Amino acid sequence: MFDVDNFIADCCEAIENDLTHKSAAEVVRCAMSEPSKILEALGEPTEPGITPLYQSQKLTIINLAWKPLTTIPPHNHEMWAVIGIYGGREDNIFWRRIKGHPEGLIEAAGAKALSTGDVCPMSADVIHSVTNPIPKLTAALHVYGGDFFEAERSEWEPERLTEHQLEMDAVRARFSS
Ligand SMILES: [Fe+2]
Repeated sequence: MFDVDNFIADCCEAIENDLTHKSAAEVVRCAMSEPSKILEALGEPTEPGITPLYQSQKLTIINLAWKPLTTIPPHNHEMWAVIGIYGGREDNIFWRRIKGHPEGLIEAAGAKALSTGDVCPMSADVIHSVTNPIPKLTAALHVYGGDFFEAERSEWEPERLTEHQLEMDAVRARFSS
């Protein structure tokens, strides 16, 4: 059975002992071994949303409901992240910077398709864009090794792939219905 308070406590304990993503990833993997229990505990999302479950300088845990058939432009986190999908799909494109480019241009470097129950750890230097490729909401738990809402981060303009500062209000707007 999944209990959100236990999950938060386990994540907090994990980073006390290990500031890398590895221990937290084990906590998320354990939770995602029974995704239906998470759905039961948190409820099937009925609208898109970005809901913080826990926020501190060292750790942020978010319950996310992605809009159907929507793409979030390339962005970085400036901290490690562990994503677990408990309902739906998420297609990630991973990007890398083109060295020395004055506008911070990026190029595609890889891809990963995530389905219900999948867990994807990301190191602090990862740049990714995310698509929900299905015509219904995708539900995910995201765990970050820092304060996700306060960190200075970058986003890349989706047509020209040039870098600019990420505006958190724009992020929130993408998750509003
Ligand atoms: Fe992200």
